[in-house]
Amino acid sequence: MTDAYPDRLGRLAAALDAPAGSLTVVRAPGRVNLIGEHVDYNAGVVLPMAIDRDTLVAWRVRTDRTSTARSLEVPGLVTYAPDGRTGPIWGAFVEAAVDAAESLGAPRTHLDLAVTSTVPAGGGLSSSAALGVGLVLAHCMAGGVDPDPRALALAAREVEVAATGVPCGTMDQLACALGVADHALRLDCRTLDATAIPLPRDLAVLVVHSGIERTLAGSEYAERRAACEAAAARLGLDALRDARIEQVADDPFARHVVSEIGRVDAFVAALERDDHPALGHILDEGHASLRDDFRVSLPEVDRLVDALRTEGAFGARITGAGFGGCVVALAEPDRVESIA
Ligand code: GLA
Repeated sequence: MTDAYPDRLGRLAAALDAPAGSLTVVRAPGRVNLIGEHVDYNAGVVLPMAIDRDTLVAWRVRTDRTSTARSLEVPGLVTYAPDGRTGPIWGAFVEAAVDAAESLGAPRTHLDLAVTSTVPAGGGLSSSAALGVGLVLAHCMAGGVDPDPRALALAAREVEVAATGVPCGTMDQLACALGVADHALRLDCRTLDATAIPLPRDLAVLVVHSGIERTLAGSEYAERRAACEAAAARLGLDALRDARIEQVADDPFARHVVSEIGRVDAFVAALERDDHPALGHILDEGHASLRDDFRVSLPEVDRLVDALRTEGAFGARITGAGFGGCVVALAEPDRVESIA
């Protein structure tokens, strides 16, 4: 718990007009993806980690058939009742979360919800996955159900698709629901196997916002996903996970996916050896592949990646879906302040 938690919990209680300390609150962290970008929806392997920015969801149970939700950051009140929903757009997450919790075995419950988040929206750090996981978990717990974390993640992924229309993969919600402190998570997005990989103590993970916000609904995310699925179909494969690099040599999008999957286990091996130059090199290769082959970077982000390396990071790359948002870099812990 950081110093900010008592203050955040107090503000949630005030928003619900509840005595401080009387609330149940769930916490859903954001994530940064270390390597394995745009491979989750190709049944590949990814390496995200949960971060210390999070979404907190508090609630009071209601006895009628109406739910309300408010955010401490976004103005407006969501109301959700049998005759429809009103209020800010993120109410679509609340509506979908009610159904998702029911699908996980929770009786339909109506709540007054208050939400606060330190995960920047549009930054590639899974603010929406944290919101979805937090809302589904809140409805499950209010209904007396403690869901299996994988089932929770998959249900929250459905919430995101329903609320935004973006055909996202499963990495973000799985990282949020299964994340382990001080570890990265090697996730096999085909089998949903998760292995916690310890992060060496002499390695700092630095996340820097480019200042360029993006939404996936407004990006080329769905187009890229469709292109990957078409490439797999042309090869007669279920998913690009099953392609060899020679098979995709002439298709830059597919080439990114296949080469990126190879980088994930190379990165895990380098983490286990605590091999800083190798880790940096893999990040640099990953960025070049996202920039040149998958074409999801921007000149401003490329300049930020270069600047981080020049200032002493071992390596850096754009993280998340791309088109703006954050860059992840690795550095020695005592260099972090000066690099930032
Ligand atoms: C977004 C999606 C994820 C994943 C990444 C790219 O964060 O929600 O499912 O596809 O982009 O790796």
